[in-house]
Amino acid sequence: MKNTSDMFNKSFNKTESETWNDFLKYQVSLFLESELRILKEFGLSNQSSPILDLGCGCGYYSIALANALPEAQFVCAEVNDEFIKNCKKNLADHHLNNFPVVKWSAGDQEMPELARNCNTVVLRMVLQHTLQPTKILQDLKEGLKSGTNIYVIEDDLSFYNIHPPIGAFDAFIKVVHDYCGMQKSNVYIGKQVPHIGHEAGLKVCNYTLLEQNNHQLGSKQLMRFFTEALLLFANTFPDIVSKEKAIEHCKELDEYVQHYDKGCCFSHYVTVTHLKT
Ligand SMILES: C[S@@+](CC[C@H](N)C(=O)[O-])C[C@H]1O[C@@H](n2cnc3c(N)ncnc32)[C@H](O)[C@@H]1O
Repeated sequence: MKNTSDMFNKSFNKTESETWNDFLKYQVSLFLESELRILKEFGLSNQSSPILDLGCGCGYYSIALANALPEAQFVCAEVNDEFIKNCKKNLADHHLNNFPVVKWSAGDQEMPELARNCNTVVLRMVLQHTLQPTKILQDLKEGLKSGTNIYVIEDDLSFYNIHPPIGAFDAFIKVVHDYCGMQKSNVYIGKQVPHIGHEAGLKVCNYTLLEQNNHQLGSKQLMRFFTEALLLFANTFPDIVSKEKAIEHCKELDEYVQHYDKGCCFSHYVTVTHLKT
C-alpha cells in the first residue's frame, strides 16, 4: 500500500509542478524565521548534521536551513518524481549540488543507506500527507541510530481564526478541509504528532504550538499565502471550489486586508514536535 496521500501520489504536469514549486517557495520564505527560532530552541544546530529532509518537496526548506546552518550537510528524500527534478534544480541554483537527493517512499520502502547515517531528521508538512504516519516514524526508529533527533513541523487547521470575521475566510477553511479530506491528507495532524510519536516508540522531548499572525508577518504577505493556497486547490480540483468562486473569495480577502491592514487579526498555526529515537 502506498503511504502517500493522493495529493502527491501522482505525476504533475509542467504547470502544476511550477505552481507547487512557487507555492512551496513562498511558504518557506514566509514562515522560516519563526519556525527556525523554535527548531534552534529545541536543539537544531550546525552539529545536528547530516540532516535528513524527509519529504523535501522542491528543496526550499533544505536550502533555507543550509543558509541558517552553513556547516550542516543535508540529505534530501522525496517520493514525487517532478518534485525530485525541481529539488535538484533548486539546489543547483543555490550552489548546493553536493546535497544528495534520493527517491524514497517512506513507510513503503526500505530506508536508503544515505539516510541511515543522518543524525537529525526534519519532516515538514509531510506526515499530514501520508496514510500511515506511525509506520513512517516506526521505520525511522528502527533504521536510525539511537539518539537521533526528529523534528516534525505540521499544520493544524483547527486553530485558525480571523477577527473581524469574513465569510471568505470561512470558505477558505472549508476548501482546505474538503480538499485535503478528499486527498486523504490530515490537516488536523498538528496536535496529534506527540501521540503518533509515542505510538511509534519514540521519545517525545518537546512540543509547541506556533502562531504566525498578520502582525508578525504582514497582513498582505500572510493573506497571500491563504489566497495562493485557495487558487492552487481551485486549479487542481475545481469540483471542490470553482476557479470563479475562488477568485471571488480571493478578491474579498484582498479587499479585507486593504481595508483593515493592522486593524484585524488572523493567523496560521503550526506545531513543532521534537522526537528522539
Ligand atoms: C507539503 S509538501 C512539503 C515539502 C517540504 N517539506 C516543504 O516544507 O517545503 C509534502 C511533501 O511530502 C512528500 N511525501 C508525502 N508522502 C511521502 C512519503 N511517503 N515519502 C516521502 N515523501 C513523501 C510529498 O511528495 C511532498 O513533496
